[in-house]
Amino acid sequence: MLKRYLFKTIFSVFFVWCLGCGQGSHEVKDPRLMIAIDATFAPMSFLNEQRELDGFEVDLIKEVVKNAGFDYELVNVEWGGLFGGLITEKFDLVISSITILEERKNRMAFSIPYLQSGVAVLVRKDIENVDNLEQLAETNAMVGAQINTTSYYFLQKYAGIKIKTYEKFGHAIIDMANKGNDAVVGDSVQVNYYFNKNKELSQNARFLGSRMTSESYGIVLRKSDLELKRKIDASLTETLKNGTVQKLHDKWNLGEFAAVPMPE
Ligand code: ARG
Repeated sequence: MLKRYLFKTIFSVFFVWCLGCGQGSHEVKDPRLMIAIDATFAPMSFLNEQRELDGFEVDLIKEVVKNAGFDYELVNVEWGGLFGGLITEKFDLVISSITILEERKNRMAFSIPYLQSGVAVLVRKDIENVDNLEQLAETNAMVGAQINTTSYYFLQKYAGIKIKTYEKFGHAIIDMANKGNDAVVGDSVQVNYYFNKNKELSQNARFLGSRMTSESYGIVLRKSDLELKRKIDASLTETLKNGTVQKLHDKWNLGEFAAVPMPE
């Protein structure tokens, strides 16, 4: 009888202790991820009136990392510092409407795509008889783009065009209002956002065609972080499949200027 009692007690103590172990090991979390984002790209990422990071990509990355089981911290880093800072381990992930490009893949890894976008062109209304990029090139127009972006690479294909580069996309738009350039190329979502938001711009500029390229945005990681990439891809796949990304697309009114891809 006593033996049995002892056995029971020892067993239950062990059992409870083991439960504890189980919980303990669950609590060992992955380390905190530092996420860099360029907050000058409304509606994808920007500082809201409370000076907090906000936008489609801010919402999205929070979902993806939380769903992957990570703690995180968001840092606002300008466009020019994103890739260098990732490689030198100042932060672990970058999300900033970054197009997945083969050349970029030499230095960095990309998640599966979370959005399809492309570049769009706005031209000043007082520039007449111009309906396409070829005509802008023929007239040696001055066209603005953010430096080292797909818009900038796109313009390099048109020999006659004089390219004026800017550190921030918004500066190209301001410069157009001052007639510092004849046209501006940017990611279609941002171009459309500025166009609709800024009355002066919509009065004085017009779209040259629609989306001119087909690009996919990905989250950027270090090439060596294979395990992290696996977890981010798995979480992103889930977030895409369960409709969360589409909901955010609706919330931020991305409209026809960007589409949500469906992973296999
Ligand atoms: N999609 C373009 C690219 O990858 C532009 C990205 C610019 N993003 C930004 N946050 N400023 O080149």
